Amino acid sequence: MKAMKAVVIGATGYVGSSVTQLLSQKGMSVVACSRDVRKASWLTNLGDGVTISPLQLSKGGETKEQLRVILDGADVAFFCAGFEQQSQETVDFMCENTLSLIETAKEKGVGCVVLTSSGGSTNPKGLEDSTPKSEVLHFSDPEDQLARGKFSPAAKTLMEIGAFKAVGRNHKNEVVDEALAEASPRLVIMNPNLILGPQLDPGDIKGNSLPWVCRILKKQTMSEHIPNDSMSIIDVRDLAALHVAAAMNESASGRYFGVNKSFSWKEILGAFGEVCEDYTPPGLKEGEDYEGKVPTQFDHTRKESLGVELRPLKETLGDLVGFLREKGAI
Ligand SMILES: NC(=O)c1ccc[n+]([C@@H]2O[C@H](COP(=O)([O-])OP(=O)(O)OC[C@H]3O[C@@H](n4cnc5c(N)ncnc54)[C@H](OP(=O)(O)O)[C@@H]3O)[C@@H](O)[C@H]2O)c1
Repeated sequence: MKAMKAVVIGATGYVGSSVTQLLSQKGMSVVACSRDVRKASWLTNLGDGVTISPLQLSKGGETKEQLRVILDGADVAFFCAGFEQQSQETVDFMCENTLSLIETAKEKGVGCVVLTSSGGSTNPKGLEDSTPKSEVLHFSDPEDQLARGKFSPAAKTLMEIGAFKAVGRNHKNEVVDEALAEASPRLVIMNPNLILGPQLDPGDIKGNSLPWVCRILKKQTMSEHIPNDSMSIIDVRDLAALHVAAAMNESASGRYFGVNKSFSWKEILGAFGEVCEDYTPPGLKEGEDYEGKVPTQFDHTRKESLGVELRPLKETLGDLVGFLREKGAI
């Protein structure tokens, strides 16, 4: 891998920084992109071969002009940028910038493009939790998501649909335009739900997931009883490993669940109780059938084909609690 060059867009983010670190550990040269290169300077401490490049993601033409320079000589490009704002801007940002990346990657002969999406694009209406979700079969309805104001998951669904089309494939990742598919980079899409584990950014704890975990551990939320529900979780380091494994595997293409599995909250809060000595989970809610509630099921075949061994939940939560303590956040 020594001679390989990777570009990471959104490299300062929770996922992007973990991908950047792993690529460097694997001996690749990494161009880590950020809107603010000064604030992103900590990325060079992640390992050898990391350089920082400014990138202002905006509208098609302007973005492409910058990408033409950044992608020069690159073998693979990761798009880990994004935000969760519930507005049309999120949809435009995700769709336009990923298309600009795919089109410029095509022009520059970049072999593979990996997009960080989310599980929010994998929820067709009426799908029972007990039916294993499939990356190939299950898509959310973007019109329905938009009508319900769910702009952030709709952005991921529409981004994926646009990306498949741009590489000559349909939703099922089948080639529908041979000439276009032949001329396009290999497209990989990662679909994670809740991502946990230590944050590499040395600044304050950011994003949605880690501050939420702090509130749970401080009993500022989920304090009355354990929810009778489940949550699909992955360790951020394992998610990065799936991104990199898929990029390196010539036969990997299409969507992959970035999910270890869906755990019941009874199991999640119980595990927090074991790894965090001053946290005791709340009790069960009277009258709720906890045993009868099936956590969301996944078909793990495609993810497992990437050959990444995922950490057990307790290890992820233990490392996260250690990190949050070091930060003084809990
Ligand atoms: N965290 C989770 O639990 C989770 C779960 C499922 C899916 N996802 C999805 O995974 C992707 C990555 O998530 P993350 O948690 O790593 O996000 P993050 O920590 O918020 O980082 C995203 C990066 O995107 C860049 N960015 C944000 N807004 C931008 C804008 N307007 N223009 C240009 N760049 C912008 C930022 O880089 P600069 O500021 O350096 O430019 C930022 O570091 C997102 O699409 C997110 O929705 C996350």
